Amino acid sequence: DRGPQVNPSILSADFANLQAELARIATADAAHVDVMDGHFVPNLTLGLPVVEALQRVSPVPLDCHLMIEDPDRWAPAYAEAGAAGVTFHAEAARAPVKLARDIRAAGGRAGIALRPATPVEPFLDLLPEFDMLLVMTVEPGFGGQGFLDVTLPKIRRARAAIGDLDVRLQVDGGVSTATVERAAEAGADVFVAGSAVYGADDAAAAIGELRDLAAR
Ligand code: DX5
Ligand code: ZN
Repeated sequence: DRGPQVNPSILSADFANLQAELARIATADAAHVDVMDGHFVPNLTLGLPVVEALQRVSPVPLDCHLMIEDPDRWAPAYAEAGAAGVTFHAEAARAPVKLARDIRAAGGRAGIALRPATPVEPFLDLLPEFDMLLVMTVEPGFGGQGFLDVTLPKIRRARAAIGDLDVRLQVDGGVSTATVERAAEAGADVFVAGSAVYGADDAAAAIGELRDLAAR
């Protein structure tokens, strides 16, 4: 299915009730799990043991966004833990092609993420090695920030370069009913949304609304 996907970010969920918070998003395409190590970004969230535990109770696949140093060492273990997708940052990886192959060999879909100021051009030749390209639309580290429109031209260039490749184009940060159409129009087809979904009274309705707006 090539339609737009919505992946709620559990960064905005209640960390004391993650099993129930995953149940709220059972109609989503995947749960976006933000792994932060306090070094690559100035925030600290959760790691492998928590992902292993979430995987056992989640009604939807887990898509892990690793905002960590040394992903070459850690990323394949997230696929082994059962994550359906594992995305690491291009700025942090020493050997991104080898790492993508290691993630795929461990049974995961491999993704590469770019901070807002990281150009996409050096990575375009690598896209056939990946299942996903994540263009960050905020500086990674925290939920609830404003969508950076300066990233839209990069999303457009990435979409053009993807062409017929079987590569999903994710956006993450500041995605809401006010911004999702701009991101979709530029070419994104997977929409990560934290505060817009978990801040809503009816998470399923928020997911449906974002998906509908993205599909227009
Ligand atoms: C930010 C994280 C995002 C974050 C998005 O570093 O990568 O996934 O949870 O949150 P919102 O949708 O609130 O901007
Ligand atoms: Zn994220």
